[in-house]
Amino acid sequence: MERLATGPRTCASAAVAGAAVGSATVLPHVTIRGLTKRFDKVSIYENFDLDLPRGKLISVFGPNGCGKSTLINMIAGLVAYDSGEILFAGKRREQVKLGYVFQNYREALFPWMRAFDNIGYPLKLMKVPKPERRARTERLVAHLDVKIDLNRYPYELSGGQQQLVSIMRALVVEPEILFLDEPFSALDYEMTLFMREQLQRIFLETGMTIVLVSHDLEEAVYLADRILLLSRHPARIADFVVFDSARPRSAATLSSPEFVQTKAHCLDVFQREVRG
Ligand SMILES: Nc1ncnc2c1ncn2[C@@H]1O[C@H](COP(=O)(O)OP(=O)(O)OP(=O)(O)O)[C@@H](O)[C@H]1O
Ligand SMILES: [Mg+2]
Repeated sequence: MERLATGPRTCASAAVAGAAVGSATVLPHVTIRGLTKRFDKVSIYENFDLDLPRGKLISVFGPNGCGKSTLINMIAGLVAYDSGEILFAGKRREQVKLGYVFQNYREALFPWMRAFDNIGYPLKLMKVPKPERRARTERLVAHLDVKIDLNRYPYELSGGQQQLVSIMRALVVEPEILFLDEPFSALDYEMTLFMREQLQRIFLETGMTIVLVSHDLEEAVYLADRILLLSRHPARIADFVVFDSARPRSAATLSSPEFVQTKAHCLDVFQREVRG
């Protein structure tokens, strides 16, 4: 069960049991069982189990090198694992559409393509005919109310605008799950704040499951419904914290007792895990 009487709520015990809501059990969107991953002889994951709830924004936080990127890359099918199983509500990776936003937007977009064509590129890979590609890209842009001139090339856009184009490129296929690996770390503070709001808006409008790796604890808590805290590798779930503050969240959220308490709890767990 997720609910604790007082203090930050954790769902660590429910990390592999699905989240109970009232009497009905909501099936997890991603189920990971017995996952094992080694790089050379170093064990990053050893018999790792995790359930990710559907329709939630889940932040992944942990020490450098603990395996955050490796985890989302394995779920997204970008990195192979040695053993175990990852299923998406019972389906295999090939049966679901996923979106992925890389950390480094400078290398993520095709420099020779206009922003509009960058966004539509995954549809081209899926062999969607050009008129439909155009219509779907336009629909997405209109839906998100993006104020960027999409006829521009990536080098003509600011870092934040480029990252927004990367996010739209991930969204154009209408993924079930959107993965973002430290997507704002190369942006300045003002742009980071802007992008957090954009991501929150996209989340509210689409209701999709989002998995966000962040090295910024404030961001990880502010944006999340759940904060997955990982230990040093071989990674364990140090805690899986619930943060149910109302959306949309704003600057006021940051000073709310619930936020302050949850962040302090996460920091406590993190420091314990880092110190070992
Ligand atoms: N391709 C690879 N070959 C060998 N070792 C790797 C490879 N990719 C990752 N590792 C190692 O696996 C561990 C986990 O890496 P990963 O990139 O998942 O960590 P992370 O938690 O995302 O770290 P960071 O916070 O620095 O982004 C690290 O010790 C890293 O050195
Ligand atoms: Mg990483």
